[in-house]
Amino acid sequence: MNIVYLNGEFMPVEQAKISPLDRGFLFGDGIYEVIPFYFGKMVGFTAHIDRMINGLAAIGINFDWDHAKWRELCEQLAKKNGGQALGLYLHISRGADNKRFHGYPENVQPTIFAMAFAIPIPEQPDKSTRKGYALKSIEDLRWQRCHIKSTALLGNVLHFQEGQNANCQEVLLYNEKHELTEASASNIYIVKNGVVITPPLDHQILAGITRKLALDILQKDKTIDVEERIVTLTEAQHADEIWISSSSKEIAPITILDGNPVGSGKVGDVWQQAATLYSQHKFDY
Ligand code: PDD
Repeated sequence: MNIVYLNGEFMPVEQAKISPLDRGFLFGDGIYEVIPFYFGKMVGFTAHIDRMINGLAAIGINFDWDHAKWRELCEQLAKKNGGQALGLYLHISRGADNKRFHGYPENVQPTIFAMAFAIPIPEQPDKSTRKGYALKSIEDLRWQRCHIKSTALLGNVLHFQEGQNANCQEVLLYNEKHELTEASASNIYIVKNGVVITPPLDHQILAGITRKLALDILQKDKTIDVEERIVTLTEAQHADEIWISSSSKEIAPITILDGNPVGSGKVGDVWQQAATLYSQHKFDY
C-alpha cells in the first residue's frame, strides 16, 4: 500500500517529492481530510468533501475541484492500494512559493497530495469482548480555530503525546472553564442516565463527520436521547460511559479516565446500542 497521488499523478510514495518551500512544509498552511473506506465503499464522502471545501475557503486557498473530481481521485487511490479498510488522506497546501514569506503568495498553485493507510476493519460491536481505551484529561492549549481541519497539527500532536506518555490512547481536552472540547484526534461524548451528551459545535472543536453521522443516526432511531450542550469535566468524571469518535476509530468506548474507572469500568450498554446502529447505517451517508 504505497501508491500516492501528487499534483496530477499516481506514483510509489518513494517517488513523491515536494519543494522544501511548500507552505504545507514551512507553515502547516493547508487543509486535510481523512475518509474511511471499507470493502469498496466510502463513509460520509459528501460531508467530508463539504468540510474540506469549507476549510479551503476559510483559509483562502482557491481550488475548484467538485465532488465528482474528488470522488474519482478517492476511488482510484483506493483501487491502486487495495485493502478492505483504508483511511483515504487528502491534503491541499497553499503551494510552493520561491521564498519564505508569511503573507499569501500570488500565482502559486496549491499542492495536492493523497495517500491511503490501513485502518482497523470494524468488528461487530460487542461490549463483552471490546476493550475500552484510557484517557488522560488535559487543559486544551490549542488555538482558537479548531473548527478548521488544518494540517498545522502541532497543538494536537503535543496533546496526543501527553496521552501516550501517560499510557493512554487519547486525551480528554477541556477549556479554561473546565468545559470539555474534544480529544486530540477525536470528538467526545458522555452518557448519563441513558442520555448521550456531546459538546456543541463551535470554534473549539472540529465538526467531526463521524459525530455528524452518529448524531443523525441516533436522532432518527429515537431510542436514545441525544443532547448537544456544554459538558463539564466534573460531569465526565461522574459519567456512566464516555466515548470518542473519529473516521478511523468509529465510535470507541472509554473505560478509564485519569486512572479511574468510567462508570462501572466496563464497556456500556448505550455504547453497544449506538455502535450497532452506527455499523448498520453508516453506509447510508
Ligand atoms: N482526526 N477532532 C479532531 C481534532 C480530529 O483530528 C478528528 C479526526 C476528529 C473526528 O473527525 P472525523 O469524525 O471527521 O474523523 C475530531 C483524523 C481522523 C486524523 O487527524 O487522523
